[in-house]
Amino acid sequence: MKEKINIEKLPKHVAIIMDGNGRWAKAKGQNRLFGHSAGVETLKNILRCAGNIGIKYLTVYAFSTENWNRPQDEVSGLMTILLDAIKSEIEEIHKSDVRINVIGDIQKLPQNVQSRINDAIELTKNNKGITFNIALSYGGRWDIVNAVMDIAEDYKQDKINKTDITENLFSTYLSTKNIPDPELIIRTSGELRLSGFLLYESVYSELYFTDVYWPDFSEEDFYKAIIDYQNRERRLGKISEQLK
Ligand code: FPP
Repeated sequence: MKEKINIEKLPKHVAIIMDGNGRWAKAKGQNRLFGHSAGVETLKNILRCAGNIGIKYLTVYAFSTENWNRPQDEVSGLMTILLDAIKSEIEEIHKSDVRINVIGDIQKLPQNVQSRINDAIELTKNNKGITFNIALSYGGRWDIVNAVMDIAEDYKQDKINKTDITENLFSTYLSTKNIPDPELIIRTSGELRLSGFLLYESVYSELYFTDVYWPDFSEEDFYKAIIDYQNRERRLGKISEQLK
């Protein structure tokens, strides 16, 4: 019999590096933007599926700080895809009680994308279902450096003392401040690295890698990742016997 997800042991927060859109498109003789558009379809499917099974937070790496260095036509094509996706999906997202959140340097995004994002965040802010957290123009180092600057400012203004700066306090200065650390991080397409995704938050995340390109990543692949996570022993620095 096929193994099933244990609903009692669901990760609260799953984060995904959606990789392989370009290679998927190339293998089909298509351009890279075709791959990104297909990636949006996968994302819609996985968001619905994550919400349905009861996951509370889904974070996706949609655009990294390094992605600005891609050819200009790919960057602007991605912005258009993003804009169109928010436009066409926002009603359904809102109806499904999804709360949208964005992390990253959004000031860098085109003005129309920024205002569309802000509208989506405002519209969905009181929703009680899954939080769909989109990492856009995001990098873990960017986030950490920003946090340090804000801490320095608060220290200068006597709002905090040096001894107040604990691991917990530090995490309240990150863009993920109201979101628990991800228990599971999935990366598609066979690449075995985190590429600056949730650097501070991922210390105890279980990492799951699959060779499947993001546009081909199915509900079944998602369940497989969760089942794999559920079969791991999360010791969080302790020893097995202490967990019993
Ligand atoms: C990685 O594949 C994918 C991206 C850089 C972009 C992913 C973005 C989307 C799926 C759209 C997101 C939309 C919303 C609404 C959040 P790649 O281009 O690095 O693929 P490759 O490694 O095969 O070249």
